[in-house]
Amino acid sequence: MQVLEKKIIFVGGKGGVGKSTSAAAIAWKSANEGNRTLLISTDPAHNLGDIFDRSIGGSITNVSEKLFALEIDPEKETDDYIKGVKDSIKNVVHSSMMEEVHRQLDTAKSSPGADEAALFDKLISIILEESDNYDKLIFDTAPTGHTIRLLSLPELMGVWIEGMLKKRQKTNDNYTQLLNDGEPVEDPIYDVLKVRQERFSRAREILLDGNMTGFVFVINPERLPITETEKAIKLLDQYHLHVKTLIVNKILPKNADGDFLLQRKGHEQQYMDMIEETFAKQEKIYVPLFPHDIINREHLETFSHYYGEAQTEL
Ligand SMILES: Nc1ncnc2c1ncn2[C@@H]1O[C@H](COP(=O)(O)OP(=O)(O)OP(=O)(O)O)[C@@H](O)[C@H]1O
Ligand SMILES: [Mg+2]
Repeated sequence: MQVLEKKIIFVGGKGGVGKSTSAAAIAWKSANEGNRTLLISTDPAHNLGDIFDRSIGGSITNVSEKLFALEIDPEKETDDYIKGVKDSIKNVVHSSMMEEVHRQLDTAKSSPGADEAALFDKLISIILEESDNYDKLIFDTAPTGHTIRLLSLPELMGVWIEGMLKKRQKTNDNYTQLLNDGEPVEDPIYDVLKVRQERFSRAREILLDGNMTGFVFVINPERLPITETEKAIKLLDQYHLHVKTLIVNKILPKNADGDFLLQRKGHEQQYMDMIEETFAKQEKIYVPLFPHDIINREHLETFSHYYGEAQTEL
């Protein structure tokens, strides 16, 4: 599986198709092959802890020799994020304004998009600061729409910050002229924004570097996951993020017997055909439906055996 060679792997897809399971299995395989691996869940409704039978939470937890896991809590990240903003403006905003500014920030905390911005900030921190500590970073993401917004944020935020910087530059230039001493005015806000812009653009470069970062979508042989993923792949293409690998999960096994299952299997074939047609360009990994949920390490081990060479048939 080509994508397994990448340093950073994002696993996306519609709700319930098997993203967390697949991300855990990819991480499991990677760690067993000797890579120091960090598995990161960005899904507010996590279940990595269930699979590894250990509570994971907001700090990096060792789950097996070379495997580490982290569950990002968006609420905590938002709190930390707002705290960080408050700290960074302490010396910038006049004390008489502070109360009002804090009030505004506290309102911002519960506004739509705040969780995502904070999550995104954390994601960037992990990509920039943990890359050197691990051979592989595997991101288990929340259902499709969320992933796309998250991955398109560098571009959107980049544009937004660019605009802010230009505005401040203009104001500062006016001030300089007004003061008429030719000295550029000091502007800590400009400096803070500039640092953020540099972090964004470094993260963006990494996300866009196809040698470094890979995107995997998980689907099931059913109509909705197929159509939703088709749209998602097109959208991500527009952001120059190219999904090259699909995991087709929960395929009825060949040896399914009984009239009911045989009928289902026949029905499934039309979706398998649709997958071949719709995703002709993507490398595909086929994983069968197991008779049980994937809830422990043994299951994960079996599951990850399917990530060998790309197969054509199950
Ligand atoms: N191939 C499979 N065979 C049997 N059960 C599976 C298989 N793949 C995943 N499951 C089970 O399906 C359920 C959903 O899987 P998982 O939690 O990985 O999906 P998800 O896409 O992460 O869901 P969410 O969108 O809620 O985050 C779990 O109970 C998991 O154990
Ligand atoms: Mg999940």
